Amino acid sequence: MAKLVIALILVTSYLFVTIPGVYGRIPNTRDRAEEKAFLRHVCGGKEKVVKLHFYVQDLRIGHANATVFEVAKASITPTHPTAFGSVHVLDDLITEGPAFNSRALGQTQGLTTNADLATFGIHMNLNFYFTVGRYAGSTLSILGRNQVLDSERELPVVGGTGVFRFARGYAIQSTYSIDFPTSYAVLEYTIYTTYNSRISESYDDVEIEIAQM
Ligand SMILES: *[C@@H]1O[C@H](CO)[C@@H](O)[C@H](O)[C@H]1NC(C)=O
Repeated sequence: MAKLVIALILVTSYLFVTIPGVYGRIPNTRDRAEEKAFLRHVCGGKEKVVKLHFYVQDLRIGHANATVFEVAKASITPTHPTAFGSVHVLDDLITEGPAFNSRALGQTQGLTTNADLATFGIHMNLNFYFTVGRYAGSTLSILGRNQVLDSERELPVVGGTGVFRFARGYAIQSTYSIDFPTSYAVLEYTIYTTYNSRISESYDDVEIEIAQM
């Protein structure tokens, strides 16, 4: 009984303690009670699905302000029809609308690799880093195959941080526009992903426009 009371006091007092940072501090793992309360906070919320919709400004090699660069290639890459083996690093702006000067929501950062000998099948290894609203500081990670000649490409969401801890879902990518002379493409993303409602519950009143249920 005494143990139960102490446990209840620990748990309830934890709930009233101001948690530093948005998603809770990493607990001292030697303090089992604190760790348990932390895990209850992180895992105990209701898992919800959110739809994210945004655009990515893809300023390719040749653009005056390029944000995509080739960092490696294979011996076969220069003469191969699908540039097999070409690896690019990118740091593209995420915007609310398709225009470059639309509201900035974050960055898309990572590597893409031409990994298909027969067609343009790109291996994607990307992190979406959000900088506004309740997702500020959170990331979503994408890992998958992007057959870019298809009008719509499905990519797996394999995880995340912050409000997206334990995330799973998928992204639909399509090319909104592409201008070859200036090497400027705009990509459209719709992502369906899980998130932990308890992690973000105290931020529900924060203005956020990128999420729609
Ligand atoms: C590149 O960036 C500069 C500075 O922001 C801007 O003035 C210029 O218009 C940009 N160029 C292109 C082609 O977007």
